[in-house]
Amino acid sequence: MSLKNWDNKTWLSSPSYIESFNNFLLKQVKLNKNSHILDIGCGRGKILGSLSSKLNLKRKSIGIDIESHKDRDKRIIFKKIDALKFLKKNKKRFDLILLKQTIHLFKIKDIKTILELSKTFLYPNGKIIIFTLDPNNNEIPTFLIMKKKLEKAITRDKNIIKSIWYSFEGKFVRSFSYKVKISKKKYMEMVDSKYISVLLGMSQKTISSGLDEIKRKYKKKISFKDKLICLVLNR
Ligand SMILES: C[S@@+](CC[C@H](N)C(=O)[O-])C[C@H]1O[C@@H](n2cnc3c(N)ncnc32)[C@H](O)[C@@H]1O
Repeated sequence: MSLKNWDNKTWLSSPSYIESFNNFLLKQVKLNKNSHILDIGCGRGKILGSLSSKLNLKRKSIGIDIESHKDRDKRIIFKKIDALKFLKKNKKRFDLILLKQTIHLFKIKDIKTILELSKTFLYPNGKIIIFTLDPNNNEIPTFLIMKKKLEKAITRDKNIIKSIWYSFEGKFVRSFSYKVKISKKKYMEMVDSKYISVLLGMSQKTISSGLDEIKRKYKKKISFKDKLICLVLNR
């Protein structure tokens, strides 16, 4: 089961979201044209590509993902590889290692190894920055079964966040919020394409009745805040 449709022409790949996200990111970490960046689970790499242009980076950033998309960003070096495999043979160093909405997809024991390895590849002032769904305040539009799955996933996320928090000394946490305005029709298409990991294991029958529920429950235009928490970790 893989996430093919996460940033497939959704707000998550819109220029406005990317601009707002990258502006937020640059307030958390000092980067300049000489910086070297790794994005673990980069998807189509649009965020990293846009960040590379914004900073006018001399060295191409590296984006890794197990999914390779035809329309991936060409401004980065993309590697289709599992994060752990990449890190185990990596020899490069980075100013920023970004994991945006990816950490929850790993097994708990792998998260530990990924972060331990990542730490060793940071330059002295480098940072690991992890974004994940705000576990206390998310407003993701859902149907009932989806909501229950999301709540279960969030309980696991909370444990992940706690264990990361206690294994780093230099650290701080911030919140990122983006106001999404989307037509119900488009959002239903996203749900139908299983854009978010909690939908991946669901049968087509569950998705179809979920779509009916969303149709009844939401207005023609859906507005909500896409809220993430951001963990900034020092070496
Ligand atoms: C929710 S998406 C986030 C994509 C991107 N970071 C963003 O925020 O737009 C999670 C991504 O992690 C990738 N992924 C999942 N497991 C992975 C692994 N073991 N190694 C590398 N990437 C992985 C998925 O293919 C997917 O593209």
